[in-house]
Amino acid sequence: MKFFVDTADTKDIAELAATGLLDGVTTNPSLIHKSGRDFMDVTKEICGLVDGPVSAEVVALDHPTMMKEADILRKIADNVCIKVPLTIDGLKTCKALTSEGTMVNVTLCFSANQALLAAKAGATFVSPFVGRHDDNGFDGMALIEDIRLIYDNYDFGTEILVASVRHPIHVLQSAKIGADVMTAPPAVIRSLFNHVLTDKGIAGFLADWEKTGQKIG
Ligand code: G3P
Repeated sequence: MKFFVDTADTKDIAELAATGLLDGVTTNPSLIHKSGRDFMDVTKEICGLVDGPVSAEVVALDHPTMMKEADILRKIADNVCIKVPLTIDGLKTCKALTSEGTMVNVTLCFSANQALLAAKAGATFVSPFVGRHDDNGFDGMALIEDIRLIYDNYDFGTEILVASVRHPIHVLQSAKIGADVMTAPPAVIRSLFNHVLTDKGIAGFLADWEKTGQKIG
C-alpha cells in the first residue's frame, strides 16, 4: 500500500520524505489555508520534495473553469495530480484530463456508486473519505470493502486512495482490505512507527549493553 501524507506543511513533508517511505502528497483548499502559503508557491515546493503524485485541487464548480484551473495547475510540475470533486462537472473534467495523460484524483467520494462513476471516468485515484463517513454514522471501512470488490470485479485501473484517515486502525484496515493508497496527516503516519514494547525493549538492551563496557568500532 502506498503512503501519501495529507498536508501542505513542507517541513512535515520533507521530514517524512527523508524516511524513504513517502509515496506522494495530498492537499486540499483547507490544508492550503492552514499552511498560510500561496497555493502556487507551496504546491511547486511540495512537488520538488517528493517524486510521487501531489494532489492539487481545483475550486471551480463548472467543467470549463475546472479545465482552465487544471491547465494552470498541471504546468507547475510533472508530478501534479489534479483533484476534482465527485460531481458531474468534476467527472467530465476527470475524463478530459486523463484522456490527455494528466493524473486525476476524484475527491469527496462517499458511496460505492460514486466510486464506480469515477472509475468509468478514468480517474487515476478515487478518494473515499472514511473519517467523515464514520463521523456521520456510516461505516467508512465498509465503503472501502465495497469499492475494492467492485473495482476487482471489472479490473478497473483506478487506485483506491483512502482519505480522511484519522487513526492507525484506519491504516491497518485499509491494508487488510487491499486499498492501493492511504493518505493521512503527518501525526498519524508518525504514530505508525511507535510501540511501547519497542521503546521498552530498546531501553532494556541499552542498559545491558552499558554493563558490558563495550563499544562497536
Ligand atoms: O484531503 C482530504 C481528506 O483527507 C480530508 O480529511 O480529516 O479533513 O476529513 P479530513
